[in-house]
Amino acid sequence: MNKIHDCIINRNSTFIPVWFMRQAGRYLPEFRKIREKNQNFIELCLNPDLVTEITLQPTKRFDLDAAIIFSDILMIPHGLSQNVNFKKNFGPELGDLDLDKIINITSEHFINKLKPVYEGIRKVRQTMKGDTLIGFAGAPWTLLVYMLNKKSPKNNFNINTITNNKVFVNKLLKKIEDSICLHVEKQIEAGANVIQIFDSWAGLLPENELNKYCYIPTLKVVEHIKKLKTPVICFPRGIKKNYINFCSIVKPDCINIDYEVDPSWIKKKIKETTIQGGMDPRVLLTEKENIKKNVEKYLQVFSDYPYIFNLGHGVLPETKPEAIEYVIKILREFKK
Ligand code: CP3
Repeated sequence: MNKIHDCIINRNSTFIPVWFMRQAGRYLPEFRKIREKNQNFIELCLNPDLVTEITLQPTKRFDLDAAIIFSDILMIPHGLSQNVNFKKNFGPELGDLDLDKIINITSEHFINKLKPVYEGIRKVRQTMKGDTLIGFAGAPWTLLVYMLNKKSPKNNFNINTITNNKVFVNKLLKKIEDSICLHVEKQIEAGANVIQIFDSWAGLLPENELNKYCYIPTLKVVEHIKKLKTPVICFPRGIKKNYINFCSIVKPDCINIDYEVDPSWIKKKIKETTIQGGMDPRVLLTEKENIKKNVEKYLQVFSDYPYIFNLGHGVLPETKPEAIEYVIKILREFKK
């Protein structure tokens, strides 16, 4: 039985499924072992055998209701021939952006470069049978930010660099939207049966620019995914009360909330969208008693609403695997 589909599509609220953003990653010793031997992160994401192994690592350890394919949102700039490099203790670093070159990249060229990603999905699907395998992409805005800023915008982002270059930015944004649609379509064809769209930097947008750069471009991607009869989860991180506008305009099948969103508030405001996530990943670094209290808060609030347990952002690298195991135990034993 596919519990995630049941929760998103049938809006069944009797069972709370669980998975974790960044569940396949640096907090797992078995991942770090593979990573040590594979210094080039992009190459690792293009190795179907290792992608399969890493994707399945958390599902072997924990009683999870989904796997998420091991890849990265920056595989799209890579597919568009912008150089992407992951530097130790720095994060991603992207190369210069040549708009004419990027605009002229054909679908065939893009798909060909990312073929090993789809091959990895095919391999995972073979072992997972009918279970949930989540494919994903960055949202148009977040990819635009990385491609123009060429590194994480955490400390140094100026919105004017985007709004002052409208003609350039509009062309690039359109190419990014088309590439996301193509990339998720190929993932679905290969066996992904849910798609999540990560808009990690939506919170950088001033309110008056949300429509142009977040809602409208994401809506195009969401409509494409819906045509492919696949449930779509959106995560517009950091947009505070605008989660409500996001849901009424973009209408994703499921919305992942971040830890700044009050779960009781959003439950009251949203009627038709399954909710996912919310708990602060830093809770997992604290003692058991506090973890239990926080997990139960979300379970209590959503006991009568279709809800998928997850976090308000990805699992932090310093998380102990035992903390994940403990969350799942609390969840499975929880009585409404
Ligand atoms: O969720 C999963 O387990 C699947 C794999 C996955 C990765 N990245 C693997 C990864 C997913 C879904 C992502 C999404 C992603 N990548 C996002 C959106 C979610 C978010 O966290 O906001 C973003 C913004 C990126 C871009 C990116 N990739 C950054 C900024 C970094 C460096 C710092 C960091 O957050 O880890 C990466 C590297 C990356 N992507 C690692 C992993 C396991 C770490 C690689 C390493 O250094 O060993």
